[in-house]
Amino acid sequence: MSAAVGVQAVFDAGGESLSSLMERLELRMAELAGSHGSLLARHAGDTIAAGGKRLRPLLVCLAAGVPPPDSDGLLRAAVAVELVHGATLVHDDVLDGSALRRGRPTVIAAGGRGSATATGDLLFSRAFAELAEGGSVQAVRILARASSDLAEGELMQRADAWSLDVSVERYLERCRMKTAVLFRAACELGALHSGFRRPSLGVFGEQIGLAFQILDDVLDVSGPPERTGKPRGTDLLDGTITLPLIVARERDPEGAPRELRRLRGPDEAAAVCDWIESTGALAIAKDRAIGLAEDAKSLLSELPARQRAVLELVADGVVERYA
Ligand code: IPE
Ligand code: IPE
Ligand code: MG
Ligand code: MG
Repeated sequence: MSAAVGVQAVFDAGGESLSSLMERLELRMAELAGSHGSLLARHAGDTIAAGGKRLRPLLVCLAAGVPPPDSDGLLRAAVAVELVHGATLVHDDVLDGSALRRGRPTVIAAGGRGSATATGDLLFSRAFAELAEGGSVQAVRILARASSDLAEGELMQRADAWSLDVSVERYLERCRMKTAVLFRAACELGALHSGFRRPSLGVFGEQIGLAFQILDDVLDVSGPPERTGKPRGTDLLDGTITLPLIVARERDPEGAPRELRRLRGPDEAAAVCDWIESTGALAIAKDRAIGLAEDAKSLLSELPARQRAVLELVADGVVERYA
């Protein structure tokens, strides 16, 4: 999470043991990043070392309790989730043909398609090795299910690429599969360490994951590039149909582009982004995400007050990042 997400407030409320767990997570990630010699492992190490907001491991910790228990198994679960996330990003950049990730060249840009495919695979297998050290069969089951859903979600995205008539329902299902299931798994894995059965936490994770992806898709249209680190409209250029475009087409069918494949480069994509914004579709998509985050917060009523308050801050942070 960036400072804008109110990360300080989350850490203040999460207490010393949250800070200590997240510091240990960084140390373990650095250790993993530095523990290989080969060229392939260097790409994996670079991906890990490039950082990120660490939102999913934060959820693992907070779902276990506030303050979270000082447990090696919990730490390993948080590391495993972040490694799966890293693996999906490396593979996602292959599928999307993206040049930049976390402000650096993507693995596919730096090392080519073969390296990127193998690097993602390596990160996946390291995630499960990490989890198996400290986790239960139940934990492995949760992460395995999420990982296969993530892959299926990406395949759905490829299957739907360039089809302008993708429905909102189909889009939401794709977002659930490719993004929200890992947020769900993060919360479920944390809850395993809480000593209580908390099924609502998994649903909470899924809802904020969905909000997160919708807002990522809004940001792809709204930019600005100085903030996102990439030109506006990259989703349009790789044929990914997202909620802003679906809503804009509903509101202004006449103004809609006939064929995304005809877009030639960032300037034409930026013009379509301006049109999407002019229809009011970005505000509608944003409201939908805010509604999901609010629904997610309403699922927390049975949790201890302190844990509920911190998870509410995280849900607000997901939305505020894009405000
Ligand atoms: C990016 O996730 C992929 C999406 C689900 C939109 P994050 O924005 O959490 O990526 P990092 O880890 O902070 O780089
Ligand atoms: C999210 O989709 C990717 C994953 C869940 C792996 P995007 O393709 O929108 O993510 P970015 O924009 O590349 O980070
Ligand atoms: Mg992408
Ligand atoms: Mg995106």
